[in-house]
Amino acid sequence: MMASMMSVVNPGDKVVIFSPFYENYGADTILSGAQPIYVPLVPPAFDFDAELLEDAFRQGAKALILCNPSNPCGKVFTYDELKIIADLAIKYDAYVITDEVYEHIVYAPNKHIYMASLPGMRERTIVCNSLSKTYSITGWRLGYVIANPQVIDRVKKVHDFLTVGAAAPLMEAAVTGLKFGDDYYEGLAAHYTHMKELFCGGLKNLGFTFTEPQGAYYVLMDVSEFGVKDDVKFCEWMTEHVGVAAVPGSSFFREDVHNLIRFHFAKKDETLNAALDNLATLRAKADGFKE
Ligand SMILES: Cc1ncc(COP(=O)(O)O)c(C=O)c1O
Repeated sequence: MMASMMSVVNPGDKVVIFSPFYENYGADTILSGAQPIYVPLVPPAFDFDAELLEDAFRQGAKALILCNPSNPCGKVFTYDELKIIADLAIKYDAYVITDEVYEHIVYAPNKHIYMASLPGMRERTIVCNSLSKTYSITGWRLGYVIANPQVIDRVKKVHDFLTVGAAAPLMEAAVTGLKFGDDYYEGLAAHYTHMKELFCGGLKNLGFTFTEPQGAYYVLMDVSEFGVKDDVKFCEWMTEHVGVAAVPGSSFFREDVHNLIRFHFAKKDETLNAALDNLATLRAKADGFKE
């Protein structure tokens, strides 16, 4: 991502980022010397306003970063939404830098559509992908970029100076995964669907308010019912007193959002069941939460 950004973005340029966002995008933009322009994805459905998006492009955006499926909100962009973004990228001559690390973790009937497959987008899409999630090797930090040859030439140079290269033995091992057949990806989606249904089904039974993800493996839960103003303190308190850890939603939002917390459900059944048992005590214990 950083090599892609530095290849197409110059100091002083502007980059559009949907909020909530995976934290690196803001930092990558700033490290490239560019200025982020945030466009809200509005909870609970995480839709965007096409007018606001065009305003952002009109300010002279050089690129937009698209996380699809999205961490943290689990949104999978529809064809119509991608088309709005693509048409604006073409109209304002901007790149779309995609982060599609959750491309194979999508829940039916949602479908992941590649931005690069839209008319006119192959040339101006820079796909950043990682092997972390698809092959369950988070921590290996192996990824790849797909873009037009001119951009790839620049990405290769920047990447060489940033990191020299990924560890060679890990790259050799990863080839094993890249040769897997379709049944592997079907099994992966089924495995995550099982975890999603177990965890979201449990949250639903407990009567919590949350957005069911369309893809990726996170759930944003609304904790307004506990009168939360400081989600960081709430997450600390919940970890200590309820025994379930979550990430404060405010770390992903540019807007002043403090009523959401993010759970991660890529866990064994027994861990998810234990978490749900603990969350069943949340309401009774919440009186003890003081800000
Ligand atoms: C949206 C997104 N992009 C990238 C990454 C990290 O990828 P890698 O493991 O290749 O550094 C993550 C990991 O959490 C992620 O959620």
